[in-house]
This record gives sequence, C-alpha cells and structure tokens, in this order.
Amino acid sequence: MRRFLIHTAILAGIAAIGAVLVVWLGLFNVSARSGHLPGVSWVLHTTFRNAVELRAPPADAVPDLSDPDLVALGARHYDGACRVCHAGPDEGRTATMLSMLPAPPPIKEAVADWEPQHLFWIVKHGVKMSGMPAWPTRTRDDDVWPVVAFLTRVPEMTLAEYEELVAPPELPADAAGADVAYCASCHGADGRGRGNAQVPRLDILGEAYIAASLTAYRTGARQNGIMHHAASTLDATGDARLARFYGAQQPSPASDPQSDSEPGGKRDHITLGRDLAMGSAASADVPACSACHGPWPDRLSALFPRLAGQPEPYLLRQLELWRDGERGGTSRAHLMHQAAKDLTDGELRALAAYYASLKPGEAR
Ligand code: HEC
Ligand code: HEC
Ligand code: HEC
Repeated sequence: MRRFLIHTAILAGIAAIGAVLVVWLGLFNVSARSGHLPGVSWVLHTTFRNAVELRAPPADAVPDLSDPDLVALGARHYDGACRVCHAGPDEGRTATMLSMLPAPPPIKEAVADWEPQHLFWIVKHGVKMSGMPAWPTRTRDDDVWPVVAFLTRVPEMTLAEYEELVAPPELPADAAGADVAYCASCHGADGRGRGNAQVPRLDILGEAYIAASLTAYRTGARQNGIMHHAASTLDATGDARLARFYGAQQPSPASDPQSDSEPGGKRDHITLGRDLAMGSAASADVPACSACHGPWPDRLSALFPRLAGQPEPYLLRQLELWRDGERGGTSRAHLMHQAAKDLTDGELRALAAYYASLKPGEAR
C-alpha cells in the first residue's frame, strides 16, 4: 500500500511538471488553424449549452417582444455591432470570420436552438474564450431586449427585408459633411427617430445637452448598451459635430401625435400629469418639473432637456430609471434623482403621457 502511494505521488509529480512545461515552453498550440483535439469541441459546446440553460432567466420573465419598434431598434443595433461577425440573414460571412475558432455561426443558425430567455442571456453575458462579446453595459436589462426581439424574427427574415429595416433614410445635402448616416439609421436625419417610439427625438434637444449626453454614454456615466456602442465610435470632436447638426434641427409640430383626439380616460390621465408637472400635486421640497422642463418658450439651462413631444414609452422608461437610481447622465443628473425618487408608478405614467401629448414646436 505504501509503495502504491509513493508511485502515485511520483506519477502526479511528473504530470504536474509536464503541465508546467507545456505552459512555460509554449508547447500547447494556440493556433486557430489547428482546430481542437478530438472531443474538445463537444465538451466546450455541451458546457456552453448547459451553462446558458442553467443561468438564463425564467421564460415568464420575457417581456412582450412583438412591438415592431423594438424589432427595428434591435435590427439597427445588430447591424452596427453584430453583423460584422454573424452576417445578415442568409448573407455569407467574410473569409476572416470563417477563419475564427470557433467561427461565429451564421445568424439563422445561431438563433435556431434557443428560446428568447436564452438569447437574452447569451447577448448580455457573451461566451468566454470564443470571441462572442458581452453586452457593453451592465446595469440595465431593458436595452438588451430589443436585440432579442429582432433575433426572434430572424428565422423568417430574408436578406432583402433585413436590408430594408436597417438602411438609413435618405440624407439631406447638409447631412453629408456631418457623417450622420449611422446615427440617422435610428434617429433619422431630422432627429425625429423615424417614428420609432423606443428612440428619443433629438430635434427637440439643444446642442449642449446632446454633446454632454454623448460623452456620458461613452464614459459609461449614462448606461445604455446601444448608445454606449454608438458613442464609442466617436471622440470629442465627433460629439461636438453631431450635437451641432442635431441641435440645429427644428421640430415641426404639424405631424405630431395629438391629445385632442384622445379618448376621455386618457385625457384625464394627461390632466393629472399636467397638475403634477406644474407642481400642484408635488411635495414642498421638490421643485415642479415645469420649473426645469417647461413647457415654456425658453429653455432654462442648456443642460435641461425639453420633454414636449418626446415619445411616451421613452419618457416612461427614463422616469423609471431615474426613480430607481439607474439612470446617470451629465453633470446635472443628480437633480433628476431628487425630482423622481418619490413618484409612484401611476404618477410616472401620467407625467410621461402629459409631456408626450405636448406639441414640441409650440411649447419650447
Ligand atoms: C467578434 C465576433 C462576434 C461578435 C461581434 C458577435 N458575436 Fe455572437 N458569437 C460569436 C462566436 C464566435 C460565437 C460562438 C460561440 C460558441 O459557439 O462557443 C457566437 C455565438 C452567438 C450566439 C449563440 C449561437 C450558438 O452557438 O448557439 C448568438 C445568439 C449570438 N452570438 C448573437 C450575437 C449578437 C446578437 C451579437 C451583437 C450584439 C453578437 N453575437 C456579436 C462571435 C461574435
Ligand atoms: C441602433 C440605434 C441607435 C443608433 C445607431 C444611435 N442611437 Fe442614439 N439613441 C438610441 C436609443 C435607443 C436611445 C435611448 C437610450 C437610453 O435609454 O438612454 C438613444 C439616445 C440618444 C441620445 C440621448 C437623448 C436624450 O433624450 O437624452 C442622444 C444625444 C443620441 N442618442 C445621439 C446619437 C448619435 C449622435 C448617434 C450617432 C453617433 C446615435 N445616437 C446613434 C438609439 C440609437
Ligand atoms: C431641478 C431641475 C429639474 C427638475 C425639478 C426636474 N428635472 Fe427632469 N431633468 C433635469 C435635468 C438637468 C435632466 C438631464 C439630466 C442628464 O441627463 O444629465 C433631466 C432629465 C429628465 C428626463 C430625461 C429626458 C431625456 O431626454 O432623456 C425626464 C423624462 C425628466 N427629466 C422628467 C422630469 C419630470 C417628470 C420631473 C418632475 C417630476 C422633472 N424631470 C423634474 C432637471 C430637472
């Protein structure tokens, strides 16, 4: 028995020295060309699949993904951040991507075996040692779901349908020099968000707020994976250039959604929102929203954004983030934490409905 133990110890020692030599002398071939040893791919893939299934959120945590605005937003982010590796639906991958180990699967294949909650987990967390990146920001989840909404549509989507969804709108002559095509795919060249209620309008915002917000996204002071990616393609000069371009766009009230035709229940809701915004229902130690956001003809500070005419779902989402302490922003962001921290869900909904119902061109 003693001899057996001594032999085992010697063998273990030799194995350990061998492992150290493999690492130290560089004997393990890390070349992506050499492929994996037999069985290794199976082990890695099975580990990946089981790890995702263990950690993904439950199926009933998946929000409603049927909104076409979510799908369009997700597709446009995919085009800028993911297409380089997975290509568009039914599009060939580049020779360079095919030479990765593992090669990124074509997107129709990548989504084939997964439920939405699994896709969410993979897009948020990435896959270690494979080249599949994690979502660039950590604190929010709602910004990942538009990409999942798009991925659930991929199986039926043709390349032509995809191209139509992600193509930027036609750009006016003055946009050419400002290099806005990428931003315009989501925000439009006029800054009005192409009618997508998940995307904020930039035409109602001022140059200083736009520039400061882009910097906040890039540094991570304001968290949103989609805009973190977009802002990381810029530098301070780019922030200033695009802020000047979008800050100069004039909102036109003509085609804005209006409250005149809203049903009675919705009108009451908007009236409650107005009372809250004007301060008649707010507590004494927090200034009324209108003190900073209007609607007045003049902006009070270059860093106070206008809210009039901003889409309701966007306003509501931002208010929830402010209240829950999850939204950062420019050097003035702390003012909003104070203003939103004690508001109820119903009050947030009423405030979002009120500001969304205002005509931006009039109420500046
Ligand atoms: C740098 C290249 C690269 C980028 C960029 C990239 N991926 Fe991947 N992705 C990969 C690779 C490689 C894998 C394979 C991982 C594996 O099988 O171990 C993968 C796996 C996946 C899978 C799981 C597929 C499977 O194997 O079952 C999905 C879904 C996915 N990616 C979606 C996305 C989305 C959405 C984005 C953009 C937010 C994205 N990827 C960006 C390289 C990339
Ligand atoms: C893939 C779609 C997409 C692209 C591309 C994109 N954005 Fe955005 N943008 C969004 C979304 C969604 C938000 C809201 C993010 C949030 O919740 O904070 C946003 C927010 C913003 C804001 C803050 C608005 C506010 O009311 O606070 C600014 C400023 C902005 N984007 C400018 C740009 C510029 C400039 C570019 C081009 C470099 C760009 N965006 C590219 C989707 C996009
Ligand atoms: C003391 C001034 C002040 C008060 C009061 C105030 N806000 Fe704000 N609000 C700000 C500032 C400053 C920002 C921009 C912060 C940033 O991103 O840096 C902001 C941002 C916002 C945004 C995000 C806008 C966008 O485009 O993303 C919403 C929505 C908002 N406020 C709603 C409200 C509501 C509703 C109230 C009342 C309950 C309110 N605010 C009260 C100063 C104020």
